[in-house]
Amino acid sequence: MSDFAHQSCISPLCGASFAVDETLTACPDCGSLLDLSYDWDRLPVPKSLREFEARWSNRRNPLDFSGVWRFRDLLPFAPDNQIVTIGEGQTILQTADQVGKFIGMNSGKLFLQYEGLNPSGSFKDNGMTAAATHARMVGAKVAACASTGNTSASLAVYASAAGVFRVVVFVGSGKIAYGKLSQALDYQARTLQILGDFDDALARVREVAGQSGIYLCNSVNPFRLEGQKTIMYRVLESLGWDPPDWIVVPGGNLGNSSAFAKAFEELHKLGLINRIPRLAVINAAGANTLYQLFEQRDAGWNAGRPDQAIIDQFYRDMTAENRRASTLASAIEINRPVNLMKCLRALEICDGVVREVSDQEILDAKAQVGAGGFGCEPASAASVAGAKLLRQQGVIAPSERVVCILTGHQLKDPDATVAYHSGDQKKFAEKLGSHGVTSASFANSPVVVENNLERILAALAD
Ligand code: F0G
Repeated sequence: MSDFAHQSCISPLCGASFAVDETLTACPDCGSLLDLSYDWDRLPVPKSLREFEARWSNRRNPLDFSGVWRFRDLLPFAPDNQIVTIGEGQTILQTADQVGKFIGMNSGKLFLQYEGLNPSGSFKDNGMTAAATHARMVGAKVAACASTGNTSASLAVYASAAGVFRVVVFVGSGKIAYGKLSQALDYQARTLQILGDFDDALARVREVAGQSGIYLCNSVNPFRLEGQKTIMYRVLESLGWDPPDWIVVPGGNLGNSSAFAKAFEELHKLGLINRIPRLAVINAAGANTLYQLFEQRDAGWNAGRPDQAIIDQFYRDMTAENRRASTLASAIEINRPVNLMKCLRALEICDGVVREVSDQEILDAKAQVGAGGFGCEPASAASVAGAKLLRQQGVIAPSERVVCILTGHQLKDPDATVAYHSGDQKKFAEKLGSHGVTSASFANSPVVVENNLERILAALAD
């Protein structure tokens, strides 16, 4: 185990610190979330981010091939021989002018970071390779997570690949897109469909992990977020190490936003970047706890002294009114984000903003992402819809460099895509209308043609 890495309580009022070989998901002293912290002055830190480019020529080494572990000097908690990797993070940033035009950006200013290209089809693999590595380091026999689908798919594939621990995944019944459920089943994860939603499933799996010693792989696991920092390293790498103006990311359980800010803050402190991009976290309007707290009620991090009374009251009302998250973007259908505190800190570090977008806006943005040659699942398109809103509001200028994170692959949730495009009124009403979607402005409907050459030629001539 690394002598230079520790798990630290995020609350500056507590500041407790624990060894890397402990399995914790909250500070045992005060209950706050934990971070990984490093004794950077005792570690060989690169003098410039350009030094990582030397690793590109060493791709036959799986650790240098990995888009996560080639940056292992910036998440130095694991010995090389413990690392579990399946070639995650082969994702690059691409300019997307057509989508940029939809958002209202100048040419060459909008970039999409397509994390759907990961082995299990979502950004989760960035974090799961790190959590699986830690699980192996501590000798875990069983790992578990609650999931809206992508975390479970990712954990399941890493468990199969590592072959050292078994997996149990908790999913909300009827709350998970079939592409994702099929992955957990195929990778042989024991799958519990809880009669409830994600928030229920997460509460239960935390209780189970607390009582049974099962290794928990949700993003309360601080090692996962270390892996997710590397998404930002790759963004910087693609931009020649010059930070963009904005990072726009969908907000669900708020692990990504928390990890991104940690990445930038560390790089800044190490003198490896000279400025920190601004962060925009985009909620679905039907699952908008962060938006409500940060933008509507002014609940900020306040240098580690957040206004807990506002947050507690918000959740008390939520419980009293039995308010449940509801959005077509099922990946972010979450009302009680576990990383709320870390995300509030992230918003302070990155001078961030939070917005909410409707399911209509999400699906229209998703269709534009597809038309632009990328493709993503609904939750991912919240980033594009959010960037469009921030452009309209004048918060983002057309000349700024904006990176939207596309978190999950298009094929994760084909039902939503087909319902939008097919022109089938019944399917539309059932799947989309029930979430307030009334139109499909960018639909590309299939054409039904008789099995007859003349009719086919006639249809093509239209
Ligand atoms: N986008 C996708 C495709 C996701 O699967 C998730 C989270 C998010 C965005 C939100 O990211 O939690 O870092 O704010 N999915 C989790 C899961 C909850 O269980 O797969 P976050």
